[in-house]
Amino acid sequence: MKYHLTYDDIQLVPQFSNIKSRTQINLNTLVSRRYGLINPIVASPMDTVCGEEMALKMFLMGGVGCIHRFMTIEEQCNIVKNLKYKIYGEGFGGPFEDWGVMYDDWHAEIPYVPIMAAIGVMASDMDRAKKLVENGANILVIDVAHGHHQNVIDMIKWCKDNLDSNVDIIAGNIATAQAAIDLEDAGADGLRVGIGGGSLCTTRVKTGFGIPNVSCLEEITSVAKTPIMADGGIRTSGDISKALALGANTVMLGSLLAGTDEAPGQIIETTKGLYKRYRGSASLETKVVHGQQARNVEGESTTIPYKGGVKFIVNGLLDGVKSALSYAGASNLTEYKPEYVLVTNSGINEAKPHLL
Ligand code: XMP
Repeated sequence: MKYHLTYDDIQLVPQFSNIKSRTQINLNTLVSRRYGLINPIVASPMDTVCGEEMALKMFLMGGVGCIHRFMTIEEQCNIVKNLKYKIYGEGFGGPFEDWGVMYDDWHAEIPYVPIMAAIGVMASDMDRAKKLVENGANILVIDVAHGHHQNVIDMIKWCKDNLDSNVDIIAGNIATAQAAIDLEDAGADGLRVGIGGGSLCTTRVKTGFGIPNVSCLEEITSVAKTPIMADGGIRTSGDISKALALGANTVMLGSLLAGTDEAPGQIIETTKGLYKRYRGSASLETKVVHGQQARNVEGESTTIPYKGGVKFIVNGLLDGVKSALSYAGASNLTEYKPEYVLVTNSGINEAKPHLL
C-alpha cells in the first residue's frame, strides 16, 4: 500500500537565496502547450466563480479565467466574444502588441492572449466547442469530474480534428500517471489535475475515490509532457507555493476567488454581514438552478463571506508565492524546485499561528 500526501502533510525546505526584492521575481508560466500567463492563477469554471467579469479581471492581472458552461451556448459565446473585444479591441484577433507592458518579452514567445472556456463531453458540446472557437476562445477545458474516460479521449480527438489548429485543449480532471499518458496520447495540450480535493467536493465521501493532492501531482508531473494545472483544495498562498514546487505550472482556484465582486451572483445582506453563494458544480443547488436532474449529487453549496474586489485577493496570493520563490532562491518558476519534508500533526500545529 502506498502512502499518499496532501498539502498539510508537507513543508518546503528553505534554500540559499540571493533574491533582494520581490520585483526580481517573475511568475511567467504556461497554462497549456502554447499559451502563457504572467501569473499562475486560473479561475475555476464554476457558475459562482468565473463569468465575464472574473475572466476579464483575471486576464488584466496576468492570469486567466475559464468561462463556465452552465449556460446556453449563445450565452457562453457572447461572453467569449465580449472578452475578445475587450482584450483585443476593434479588429478582433491577431497578436496582442497592445496588451500592455505586463507581457514584456514573454509575448514574443507566446503570441496570443488566452481566452479560455469550458465544455463537456455530450454531443451538443461539439457544437459548443465550434461556436466558442468561432467567437474567439483559443483554449478549451474539457470540464468533467472523471477525465480518464473514453468520452474525454474521444472529445480531445474530435477537437483536434475539427477545430482551428491554434486551439489548445486542456483535459481533466485526472489523478493518475496513466490518465496523463492516455490524455496526452489523445492530443491534450494541458492537464487539469485533482479529484475529490475541492473545498465543496463530496466525491471522496460518496464514492471513496480520489487521491490526496501532493501525491497526485507528484505522480502526474513525473510523466506529463504538457502543462499541469493543480485543481481543488488550495486554501492559501502556501498551498499554491507547494503545488508549484511539485511541478504544477498553474493552480485553479474556486473558493479563494468565490465571494468576490467579480464572482457571479448577488451579495446577500444579513444581520451578521455580507455573503455570496459558492456552490459545487455537481451540487444539488447547481443542478436545480440549471434545470438538471437532481441525481448524482457530488458537491455541496454554501454562503461565504463577501470579500470585495478579487484584485486584493489575487495580489495577496501572488505576494505569498513570490516570497516562496525568494525562500527557494528562485527568480522564476523554472528555477523553483525546493524539496519538501513530511510533517507530523505537531508540525502542522506549529506551522499555524498558535499563540492566539
Ligand atoms: P476549491 O477547493 O478551490 O476547489 O474550492 C475548486 C474545484 O473543485 C472542483 N469541483 C467539484 N468537485 N464536486 C466535486 O467533487 C463538485 O460539485 C465540484 N464543483 C467543483 C473543481 O475541480 C473546482 O475547480
